Amino acid sequence: MKKIGILFGQEKTFPAAFVERVNKKAKEMNTDIIAEPVMIDKVVQGEPLKYHVIIDRISQDVPFYRAFLKNAASSGTAVINNPFWWSADEKFFNNALMTKIGVPVPKTVILPSNQLPPDTNQNSFRNLSFPLDWEGIFSYIGFPAYFKPHAGGGWKSVYKVSNPEELFKAYNETEQLVMMLQEEIKFEEYFRCYCLDRQDVWVMPYEPRNPHHLRYVKDGPPIDPAKHKMLVDVVLKINRALGYDFNTVELALRDGIPYAIDFCNPAPDAELASVGEVNFEWIVEAASNMAIRRAVNHREGLNNLTWGDFVYSSANNDPLLEGAYDESVKKKPVNKISRSRKSKSADETVKAEKKSKKTKAA
Ligand SMILES: Nc1ncnc2c1ncn2[C@@H]1O[C@H](COP(=O)(O)OP(=O)(O)O)[C@@H](O)[C@H]1O
Ligand SMILES: [Mg+2]
Repeated sequence: MKKIGILFGQEKTFPAAFVERVNKKAKEMNTDIIAEPVMIDKVVQGEPLKYHVIIDRISQDVPFYRAFLKNAASSGTAVINNPFWWSADEKFFNNALMTKIGVPVPKTVILPSNQLPPDTNQNSFRNLSFPLDWEGIFSYIGFPAYFKPHAGGGWKSVYKVSNPEELFKAYNETEQLVMMLQEEIKFEEYFRCYCLDRQDVWVMPYEPRNPHHLRYVKDGPPIDPAKHKMLVDVVLKINRALGYDFNTVELALRDGIPYAIDFCNPAPDAELASVGEVNFEWIVEAASNMAIRRAVNHREGLNNLTWGDFVYSSANNDPLLEGAYDESVKKKPVNKISRSRKSKSADETVKAEKKSKKTKAA
């Protein structure tokens, strides 16, 4: 019996639809997998959980859950997304990494927080120039610019500023947040793309200038196939470098070039009322397939987390190469399934697994 759990917060529709879909598929496939909401009680260090796979939709808001998930990973639970990586990265680093792998990103600088962090005083900042080279920053970024937290989401504390005065006014409102100042991309088109298991991409035309309930463009014209391929390729490249299993990437097209605007959304919106029926159906199906694949491929007592090329190349002391993860997986067969370039349905995976079991038995 393989158990898949989902950990969630205030979401209304996705978790229940996911559980129902996994269980329906498992039944149709006649496989020994069940899904259910995760139930947490006493959490003891190093104690294995009954879950082989957990989909995490909420630990960004609940630090206790993040620690619980790391503990689960220590006993081999495949946690989606990897809670260690998610604790480590943030938007500024992610942008920096993109500059190394050839993904276009808006020019961006990071700024020290406006207010001192707790338990620090002026002496804690003797390594920091004061005042900063604002002229240099402004001439690099230009105006209008976006001013937004280096970690966060849901458009919280995101400002569009048109001049230094507006920037400093906004800066004075941001307290201890660490903020980035970023070139505005004046885009002709904008897309939000789900990316699952670093193999399945779903491109959604998105109009961020519309009111919230009208942002997912429901009846737009079809996307030109060449453009679609370009978007898919860049989304895969981003997620393979970072190592996210479940993410959305926002891409803004300027002069036909896709700029990555926001690609650190590891618990992305999947609410039916927000994304609409077609997108909801895709994400429920793809997430269920991913969870089943990961359950089928779960290796008892081993580490079942996945990582991105950046971490693999660091661990192997390799240059920052695209495909570092793949190379490493070829050497040691770790998490084979999540790196399969060809998108396999959960059904195909289960069939392959059954066949391999039969061969082993024979
Ligand atoms: N550099 C930028 N150029 C153009 N639009 C931007 C830029 N940065 C942010 N935006 C707009 O602001 C919105 C919110 O910013 P985003 O970086 O996605 O923050 P969050 O993680 O809070 O969603 C984006 O969806 C986009 O519409
Ligand atoms: Mg966003």
